[in-house]
Amino acid sequence: MDIKTVSKTPDEVIHYPQADADDIELGPADVEHVVEIFNTPLTGSYNWDYSIQDDRIRKLYELGKKLNWNAEVDINWDLPMFHHLAPDLNAFLDYEPYARLDEDGQREVNQHLNAWTLSQFLHGEQGALLVASQLASCAPTYNAKLYAASQTFDEARHVEAFNKLIQTRVGLSYPVDPSLKSLLDKILTDPRWDLKFIGMQLVIEGFALSAFTTMKSIAEDSIVGELLHYIIRDEARHVTFGVNYLEAYVQTLSEEDKEARAMFAYEACVVARERLIPTGVFQHFGWDVAQAREIYLRGPLVNKFRDLLFTRIMPNLRRIGLLTDAVRPKFEELGILEYEHLPDDYDIDWAEISKPLHDAA
Ligand SMILES: [Fe+2]
Ligand SMILES: [Fe+2]
Repeated sequence: MDIKTVSKTPDEVIHYPQADADDIELGPADVEHVVEIFNTPLTGSYNWDYSIQDDRIRKLYELGKKLNWNAEVDINWDLPMFHHLAPDLNAFLDYEPYARLDEDGQREVNQHLNAWTLSQFLHGEQGALLVASQLASCAPTYNAKLYAASQTFDEARHVEAFNKLIQTRVGLSYPVDPSLKSLLDKILTDPRWDLKFIGMQLVIEGFALSAFTTMKSIAEDSIVGELLHYIIRDEARHVTFGVNYLEAYVQTLSEEDKEARAMFAYEACVVARERLIPTGVFQHFGWDVAQAREIYLRGPLVNKFRDLLFTRIMPNLRRIGLLTDAVRPKFEELGILEYEHLPDDYDIDWAEISKPLHDAA
């Protein structure tokens, strides 16, 4: 086993031999495991009370077991892949370095933008996998430990599915975006389990749920759409778990502790907002990053969807009591406070979330 520990997060684009990627069998000698260390002063807990509380957390756990899916079996990987960006969503149509490219050149840029987004999903899923596994140790109650374990397996399957999509169909992957990485660092290394919980289950997953839904609505590739459909169903359970568990828990905190959590959630939202900008792609093509960034932010995709990405997070933060008077003006400044009164994920649509895998719309 060849393990290489690095002190700096890798920053290169990786290309995969796409044509026969499915057939490549790599042996131990072919793989170098690139590892970056993080330390966490994890405070775990045993739970010696095995009484089974019949609550929503248990119901979600049962659903999680029932709705397991398998990327190898449930997805038809044989369809062709599109690297196409609908013209009405492309911010760069009039940007000279893009406009002067021929069709192949533009397709390559689109492929990179696609790879960048899917790679951030992949890295985010790995973060979720690591946090969920920490929560199995840290969460204090019986049902929550079992649920965190089932979520850990969900996240492993999400990592597997996005990785397969990237390696066999997109053909290249991007390194983790620095703002996403700093958010994951913050969550993974904080000793307080409930901050991990807030950061992951509410902010990152709420954000991912909106991002996946957005991507599903514009994806022209049917495999991307199908895969996101399965993942969205899992994530909806994860967010509901977070809202239900945290609502009860936050009420037990002192005002001072509550403010610290509210501030943490706000800071996580600020960082999450940044991760939408594919600066890595601009750098790769030698574009002027500041200029491309500005054009991207003015573009139709961002204008249409950027704030929508907070439509799950804000009502959920309000629901669990973390939109305190101290942080409200800050969210107002970000322009996303208005979403607080949208439906939250506490009262989930059980009929919808319980549908058999292949029946759901
Ligand atoms: Fe996930
Ligand atoms: Fe998740």
